[in-house]
Amino acid sequence: MPALLVSAAEPPAPANLPTYTPQGALNMPTRYRTWTYLSSGFGMSYSDAPAGTQLFDKVFVNPEAYAVFERTGTWPDKTVMVLELRGAEQNGSINKGGHFQGGVHGIEVHVKDTARFEGGWAFFSFGSEMPATMIPRSANCYSCHEQHAAVDTTFVQFYPTLLPIARTHNTLSPAYRAAEAAPTGGN
Ligand code: HEC
Repeated sequence: MPALLVSAAEPPAPANLPTYTPQGALNMPTRYRTWTYLSSGFGMSYSDAPAGTQLFDKVFVNPEAYAVFERTGTWPDKTVMVLELRGAEQNGSINKGGHFQGGVHGIEVHVKDTARFEGGWAFFSFGSEMPATMIPRSANCYSCHEQHAAVDTTFVQFYPTLLPIARTHNTLSPAYRAAEAAPTGGN
């Protein structure tokens, strides 16, 4: 069969998979702004210490993974989640109250690639470093997400369209369910 016909019959290459340098650094997922939007946080902090600079964060996921989550309540291999942090601005243009988003303060990525990473997932941070090397497993990213995140080390309890799906499919982590049931609630 002529090569042209063979390649025409092949399915198109999946669009939004993670790609790496030969040294294992993650290439920036440059198309994430066209992905599925999960949530926004504003000035979220995780300790009782007074909050520092208040940032907006938005979470995006590759649409292929979102489609699987809708069907199953959990993430497939090659899920890529992006947390974009932007500063909160005030009093620009016609704005007199409230906040709007300013410049980028950081881009953090959580990737599920089970053949590559111990525990299935790894974190990367794109600041000055691009492509980004994996954040070491000793970092608190891993321990907080493993101990407190509702589904498969991701913070689905803060993604309002996904939490009911996880409940329906019974995919909430045992730790999250126990914390929800505790008198003080939350996790
Ligand atoms: C003390 C707990 C805590 C620590 C430590 C932490 N995170 Fe998170 N992370 C969160 C919470 C809560 C969210 C949900 C944010 C939202 O709702 O907007 C989140 C969401 C994320 C997401 C979106 C995808 C997902 O897994 O839900 C990424 C990417 C991410 N964090 C990266 C990191 C990186 C990189 C580090 C380490 C440098 C880190 N996080 C450390 C609590 C934590």
